[in-house]
Amino acid sequence: MSSKPPISPAPPARRATVTLSTLAAKKALGEPIAMVTAYDYPSARVAESAGVDVVLVGDSGAMTVLGYPSTVPVSIEEMLMLAAAARRGLSTPMLVGDLPFGSYEASDVLAVASAQRFVKEAGCDAVKLERGGSSSDRARAIIAAGIPVMGHVGLTPQTATALGGYRSQGRTAERALEVARDALDLQEAGCFSIVFEAVPSELTDALMPKLVIPVIGIGAGPATDGQVLVFHDLLGIYEGHAARFVKRYGRVREAMEEGVEAFVREVRERRYPEPRHGYTMAPDEATRLRELLGDA
Ligand code: KIV
Repeated sequence: MSSKPPISPAPPARRATVTLSTLAAKKALGEPIAMVTAYDYPSARVAESAGVDVVLVGDSGAMTVLGYPSTVPVSIEEMLMLAAAARRGLSTPMLVGDLPFGSYEASDVLAVASAQRFVKEAGCDAVKLERGGSSSDRARAIIAAGIPVMGHVGLTPQTATALGGYRSQGRTAERALEVARDALDLQEAGCFSIVFEAVPSELTDALMPKLVIPVIGIGAGPATDGQVLVFHDLLGIYEGHAARFVKRYGRVREAMEEGVEAFVREVRERRYPEPRHGYTMAPDEATRLRELLGDA
């Protein structure tokens, strides 16, 4: 018989906190970056345990969890509440808060003040804004105030009406050049990363060699440094229209409906609760209670 002490299993490896340098290193090493949206504590806990690198509290939450018809109406207060809840569920992924429509466009002062609220009140590590042009100036101002910024080009839902609706962007050479200019402006402004949404893969392929910062794609082909999907889309929770780039990795809405339907059925059939779901009193206490109530 061996006299060696039993070898205790190694503790599970603790994941390191994801920082700007982690993302830059992943790009340099060619390691894909995984980003998902999350809008509350349970979805953040799922992202945390799945090993996601970046969690975005996207303004898509306006539609997926707040029930608005687009991302436009959501207020900064609503976004801050969602971001703070996600923060409480995370320790390792980087947390990026989406600046909602109307919270940054008008001036650098407004943009910096809104970004600071995401950091101070919701504990975000960084913020995201949409489009190039004047948004690049807003990004520069926020970065100068010490807050990292993620850009977003291509289909930018906050201005979808001006873009002709929720449709892919940059499908002609001229329009692709505009998207490219926006991306390069945002990089030049100091953004640490950019989202490319719903653009042809030829545009992504042509732009990737010009971008030294990590590019996260959503409907932008396989050449980006990472991919992002909306939590409710990838798990099949959201019942609205799904864009072509959405891949369903789960059918959670069906599971939720089945669960709640079963509960409703059991309540109506008096099959729930069973004795094991309840609490009891000692028989003498029950007798005394009836006496006190005058029933004995
Ligand atoms: O709001 C959002 O979820 C987003 C992602 C699609 C990138 O902006």
